[in-house]
Formats: sequence, C-alpha cells, structure tokens
Amino acid sequence: MKGSFITFEGCEGVGKTTQVERLKRYLEESGQRAMFLREPGGTVISEKIREMLLSKENDKMNGKCEALLYSAARAQLLGEVVAPALEEGTIVICDRFTDSTFAYQGAARGLGMDFIDQLNKLTCGEIVPDVTIFLDMPPRKAFERKGGADKNDRLECQGVEFHEKVYEGYKEVARRYPERFVCVDASKDVGGVWQDVIEVLRKRTSVK
Ligand code: TMP
Repeated sequence: MKGSFITFEGCEGVGKTTQVERLKRYLEESGQRAMFLREPGGTVISEKIREMLLSKENDKMNGKCEALLYSAARAQLLGEVVAPALEEGTIVICDRFTDSTFAYQGAARGLGMDFIDQLNKLTCGEIVPDVTIFLDMPPRKAFERKGGADKNDRLECQGVEFHEKVYEGYKEVARRYPERFVCVDASKDVGGVWQDVIEVLRKRTSVK
C-alpha cells in the first residue's frame, strides 16, 4: 500500500501554516492517520541544517551552497521519515518541498530551473508529491495584509523584489508541472481558502 504525498507551497505570509494546521485538525477529528512535516526540518540532522540555513549570521552563504543544503536536509528527511511512511500507506503532508527550491534558489537566487530540476531528481528519485497546493498570492499583497514582512530569518530578510522573483518562480513551476501543482486563491478569507484546499485533496488524494 502506498500513502498520499501532499505538499504545501507559497510565498511568505500567505497563510500556509494556518491551512496546514486546519488540515491537521480535520484529519485528526475524522480519524485519518497522517504525518505532518515541514521543510527544512523533520529529523535531528535536517533541523540542524535548518538552523544553518536560516541563521542571519550566515549572510555570506551563496545560492549554490543554499540549494545543496536544502537538498541535504531533504535527503535525510526522505530516507529517514517520508519513504518509510509512504510505504506503510500513511498520508504525508509537508509544509514546503522541492518547489520551494525551484522558486527560492532556482528563480530568486538565479541558479535556474534546469539546475534545480537535476538537483531535485538526484535528491528525491521516485518520490514526487501526488498533489502540491500552491497558496497563490503575490508578495506585495501578502505583506500589505500582514502590515509588513517578517524579519525573523535570513530568507525573510530579503527585500520585496526577492520575494517577487520567488512568486514568478512558482508561476514557472505551475507551467512545468500542471498535473500535480494546483493554484488555490489565497486572497479569500481563511474559511474560503480551506474549502478550496479540502475539495482538491478529497478529489485527488486518499484524504476523505
Ligand atoms: P519556513 O519554514 O518559515 O517556511 O522557512 C523556510 C524558509 O526557507 C522559507 O523562507 C523558504 C525557504 N526555503 C528555500 O529557500 N528553499 C527550500 O527548498 C525550502 C524548503 C525552503
């Protein structure tokens, strides 16, 4: 038996965490077994790599180093946690995955989508999300709604132009992978977005 692999993507401040938490509650309340992960992270080693990636002290880190570290954290998470869980038939939900590397390192850092495509294939092999929910909202609008950008980590501290490139990167991913990448309008209220999210998941995954 093979479980469903669902990933959530989006720019900063679009309400991704809120929707992931809502899904967690929904699955718990309806008695469906699921595992929730976030990237980078989810294992002791991957969390250590996360600290390195997000620390504001590492402002000299270049794009290639960044991409390889995200991939290193991912390789550990896949081997240690995701692959065995999917094999057991668990629904695995991951907050960010390979499309973040396309958008942030491929597009915004300028490494290019083909470079990231190769890297993702080397890192993930056969493991590809069944569905990716992209919470679609341009960064300017997200920052306006929040009353400004968070500045808690190294990536959040990049200017709005960087985040606009991230958004364009996601749009490119949408063109490349239309079969799994679903854009959900994140400008609706929380309940409206949730209705769209759960409808997609019920249709396209083993979520009931
Ligand atoms: P978050 O857990 O708060 O979303 O923080 C993760 C940060 O790392 C976020 O700014 C997006 C960024 N990121 C990348 O740049 N590339 C990646 O491959 C992943 C997974 C995240």
